[in-house]
Amino acid sequence: MTGPLDISMLPEHAEVGKGGRLAIAGVDVLALCEEHGTPLFIYDEQHIRNRCREAVAAFGGDVAYASKAFFCSEMARVVHAEGMRIDVSTGGELYVALRAGVAPDRLVLHGNNKSDAELSMALKAGVGRIVVDSFDEMDRLDRLCSACSARPAVLVRVTPGVEAHTHEYVMTGQDDSKFGFGLASGAAEEAVSRLEGAQAGPRLVGVHVHIGSQIFALDSYARAIEAIAPFFSTLGVEELCIGGGLGVGYVEGEPTPTFAAWAAVVRAAAADAGIPPEVSLSAEPGRAIVAAAAITCYSVGTVKDLPGIRTYVSVDGGMSDNPRPVLYGSGYEAFLPREAGAFRPRTVTVVGKHCESGDLVVRDAAVPEDLVVGDVLATPVTGAYGHSMASNYNKVPRPAVVWVRDGAARVVVRRETFEDLVGRDL
Ligand code: LLP
Repeated sequence: MTGPLDISMLPEHAEVGKGGRLAIAGVDVLALCEEHGTPLFIYDEQHIRNRCREAVAAFGGDVAYASKAFFCSEMARVVHAEGMRIDVSTGGELYVALRAGVAPDRLVLHGNNKSDAELSMALKAGVGRIVVDSFDEMDRLDRLCSACSARPAVLVRVTPGVEAHTHEYVMTGQDDSKFGFGLASGAAEEAVSRLEGAQAGPRLVGVHVHIGSQIFALDSYARAIEAIAPFFSTLGVEELCIGGGLGVGYVEGEPTPTFAAWAAVVRAAAADAGIPPEVSLSAEPGRAIVAAAAITCYSVGTVKDLPGIRTYVSVDGGMSDNPRPVLYGSGYEAFLPREAGAFRPRTVTVVGKHCESGDLVVRDAAVPEDLVVGDVLATPVTGAYGHSMASNYNKVPRPAVVWVRDGAARVVVRRETFEDLVGRDL
């Protein structure tokens, strides 16, 4: 791999200008790094909006954005304005969405261990859907509902016994899972029979299935629908959510399936399985909405050549802004925004600044021959599960997030300061 970066890995409105400098939505990337410092997350806002529109066009207005992939107040407002529901899986995500002004009935509450406080918050706000995940949660919900005579619409989360071909840590559809009610064990049936015909408390409106994340083989969804259909069809409910998980290419050559292709597979499988056309088939993508919308820019601080072994290129971030390489062994591409179209004949290991040997950014990165200390180095496809899983390990302040659109940039999450780092210390 010595060629230039495949430009299709960059956000939709990226452009390599004369001399090779990268601009996104008409904004020069290096100028942004100058102004805001590094590490810096740069998101193409229109890219996010376009993915939301494609998701709504493919699945209809019940489709939800899984906020865990990337969330902040502006993201909540934009996704809401683009007509998606929002999946929140904690009180924190719920709080951000409500505070941003998202209509409560457009929120879907998830979680395998929702607390009394989280459920009460959701009931009080009047969230649109609660996805129930356990019998203990059902007990809790019954008690809280009877205290305030609430009748929230709920979906039952079912694990269909389907193993998606993906990393073990992000597989969720198999029988051995902390999520949902098993189909094979009869737990799913027991859960719905508790809900069916209830005159008070939660109201069953549908079924939810999420088989995992970073799924490229769309037939995994067809198998999940096939598995769930006989059970679903006995219920007479009108919503079937197939969860999230649509895969995104992180390295060259990995294809990114479209929302339209995903929806077509889901629809065909549902029709084959005899699910009536009036049933609302929806989905809950996170990564596929935001991953490719962003790049992360770092500054190169040291280049350490170990002859005959490898060259370490250290950048000013690492596992605190992108833990995915460490957690899942995920691969990324690297390039220099000052010459985004350059050939990359040199192989180096890009590492972060944390006190761990495992603090990898890109294990075998192809980079231009002339990479030097002081360069800005960027990794594409870092819009999902980077900022949202960021930490303050080694007391590194979390990076700023800048959105660009139509030639203008704005900070949507400011960089953390040292003062923020001690803000909660007593
Ligand atoms: N719905 C449910 C119930 C989920 O648990 C998830 C992700 C999604 C939707 C969205 O999945 P997506 O479309 O983003 O794949 N940190 C990992 C991913 C964990 C996903 C957890 N649940 C990573 O960085 O790959």
